[in-house]
Amino acid sequence: MLQEKIKQFTAEIKSFVPASAADVENFKLKFLVTKGVVKALFEEFKTVSVEEKRTLGKVLNEFKQLAESTYNSAQAQFAQVGKKLEREEGDLTLPGEGFQLGSRHPLSLVRKEIVEIFKKLGFIVAEGPEIEDDWHNFSALNFPPEHPARDMQDTFFVEKKTGNDIALRTHTSSVQVRMMEMGKPPFRAIMPGRVYRNEAISARAHCFFHQIEGLYVDENVSFADLKQTLFHFVQELYGEGTKVRFRPSYFPFTEPSAEMDISCTICKGDGCQLCKQSGWVEILGCGMVDPNVLENCGIDSKKYTGFAFGMGIERVTNLKYEIRDLRLFSENDVRFLSQFETELV
Ligand code: PHE
Repeated sequence: MLQEKIKQFTAEIKSFVPASAADVENFKLKFLVTKGVVKALFEEFKTVSVEEKRTLGKVLNEFKQLAESTYNSAQAQFAQVGKKLEREEGDLTLPGEGFQLGSRHPLSLVRKEIVEIFKKLGFIVAEGPEIEDDWHNFSALNFPPEHPARDMQDTFFVEKKTGNDIALRTHTSSVQVRMMEMGKPPFRAIMPGRVYRNEAISARAHCFFHQIEGLYVDENVSFADLKQTLFHFVQELYGEGTKVRFRPSYFPFTEPSAEMDISCTICKGDGCQLCKQSGWVEILGCGMVDPNVLENCGIDSKKYTGFAFGMGIERVTNLKYEIRDLRLFSENDVRFLSQFETELV
């Protein structure tokens, strides 16, 4: 008799599939409370023969364990569903869930800072295409036909066209040409943008980077204006007291040309690894716009003069944040990016 009952209830428990928390509660009421099946079977167990006790004791204990574990897992399942439902319906008393804000890319931060400084001096922002023709990237800028920068090693060509190849721009000076061709002086603008050069990727070089170039063309613009503008820019960006020096240099599109160094931002001029013990680091190229360039763009070089300058945003950023590997800028590693200021706008 007892054995038969245990068998029946075991089958019932094994086929138990709860559909709701109420089913789980009913299961408990049927099997596990003081007046439930398990207790009743144990009562009945007391009345059976010694012989039967020997075989049924183990069976009955296993039955009890089965009832309990079935109940426990059913209860756990419905407890979770209950919680989930509560959240889906929206418990307004729960604290809000925070979400993580991204941060601005360091190059965007520095570009913005540079743009703000020049805007205060009356420069506007100009942009142009990244795919350029030979005229805007080279010829109008007074590059002689055999100049090495036109070579396959530096320029990514998109299309070879007799007399006017199409290529990815190698500098944003092309935007200066477009601006001068389209309008009339005075021009006072800066040109931020991405540029491409066919270089092997390493900590110090990449096949693309970002530039900001500047152009000021008007009557009587002199080299003194160039020096004062760039001196002011450096004081604003790297702090009062940062020294500058100009070294003679060469660019096809400026005459005279110079490179500008600033006193090392790390050691303040004492000499360190970054400035190779010299106390100075180079940050940009500049010069007076070559009269040929003005004429190429339809501007009377007898009446107008101008200055131009160009810098790599990566380089300026490296000096500001002491970043030593250019590749970090394009790898999008959040451990790197999250170290920069978060802005809501
Ligand atoms: N276009 C130059 C470069 O890419 C930078 C530059 C701009 C130098 C304007 C002088 C004047 O290296």
